[in-house]
Amino acid sequence: MSVLVIAVDGPAASGKSTLAARIARHYGLPFLDTGLLYRAVARELLDRGLDPQDEAAAARLAAALQPEDIDPARLHGEGVGELASKVAALAAVREALVPLQRQFASRPPGAVLAGRDIGTVICPEACVKLYVTASREERARRRCEQLRRRGEAPIYARVLEELEARDRRDSERAVAPLRAAPDALVLDTTDMDAEAAFRAACAFIDRRLAERPGCGHPRSSEQPLQP
Ligand code: DC
Repeated sequence: MSVLVIAVDGPAASGKSTLAARIARHYGLPFLDTGLLYRAVARELLDRGLDPQDEAAAARLAAALQPEDIDPARLHGEGVGELASKVAALAAVREALVPLQRQFASRPPGAVLAGRDIGTVICPEACVKLYVTASREERARRRCEQLRRRGEAPIYARVLEELEARDRRDSERAVAPLRAAPDALVLDTTDMDAEAAFRAACAFIDRRLAERPGCGHPRSSEQPLQP
């Protein structure tokens, strides 16, 4: 049976995980937000009081990670995200997390994975690749909104600065830097709402599936898109 893998990459706060989760529901595929794996390693390092730059210790934690150990509720803080971005630059950690991600992607009927290097490193053979982005100012605005909804009082200039630092670290690191795969659809959502982004993504996916019938036969579990 062929598997349908949909890779959704993009920078922090681009809306890629929300979009990817909705795509997964629509096509009836399991979803993995791979940022949570790096966040889980960062959280474990913090909880155990280990040095975040101890590559061997971080890689051991990464190798032992099981999807069922991941509790998203404990992983969403900005501090964990910041440390996750540092831990994600360690080659041994990235390597230790490859098998889990590839196994998830290889089980029929396929999967949707969101991250930074899914289309370039983890699943370069993915049938469909999306690179979701938005201007840094818009991403900072969205991140502030998200933090406000969680009851926090973010300072826009600070959030923007942190995003800049995170973008730099994620895209300038030596291993698996954040990049759009050459065959990815670059979806700039700066001027799109979530609905428009979802429609654009589905239109691209449906085109790809029609061009490459060997990709798998997804079933739609959401309402069909209106024309
Ligand atoms: O998507 P996120 O913000 O939850 O990811 C947290 C950090 O993990 C991000 O700054 C970079 C890293 N990451 C990565 O390097 N590769 C991935 N596939 C996913 C996340």
